[in-house]
Amino acid sequence: MRAITYFARMIRPILQLPDPVLRKVSTPVQKIDAEIKKLIEDMFETMYDAPGVGLAAVQIGVTKRVVTIDATRGDDEKKPMVFINPEIISASDEKDSKEEGCLSIAEFYEEVERPSEVKVRYMDEKGKTHEIEADGLLARALQHEIDHLNGVLFIDHISKLKRDRVTKKFTKVAKANKRAAIVG
Ligand code: NI
Repeated sequence: MRAITYFARMIRPILQLPDPVLRKVSTPVQKIDAEIKKLIEDMFETMYDAPGVGLAAVQIGVTKRVVTIDATRGDDEKKPMVFINPEIISASDEKDSKEEGCLSIAEFYEEVERPSEVKVRYMDEKGKTHEIEADGLLARALQHEIDHLNGVLFIDHISKLKRDRVTKKFTKVAKANKRAAIVG
């Protein structure tokens, strides 16, 4: 017999650029067990706390293909959505450009051009497969988060000059934090 311990949902630290884990390709979820369910709970807790529109498991250091999104805004009723092993099966030719940010690249925003509509196949928490046609913010969030599962960050879609500049800035901060941790 295996003992299963249930822990309260937890806000987990969000990895920041240039953490190399953010560049890893996440592996598909084979079985939705207690560990995955706990991961999903923690992801929602972390995402709402941040707050962010979406979160990929890799951002809290778990390289599994799990994404949480809530694309509602303002005072609208919350709509938590979970996507397990999501894949884009089609994308519109029509594109649009909007400002994007990322919880792993805190307080940096830049315009990114992406297809305005996508069709995504994914599994829900019960292991059932669905297809969703998304547009607007949800389409953008899905593409951004699925990128994370492949080790891709939104800054990969902007100019090299801007990418190098933000990477340098974050590398400096990470070094300073490391020094502070050693000293204090
Ligand atoms: Ni992100």
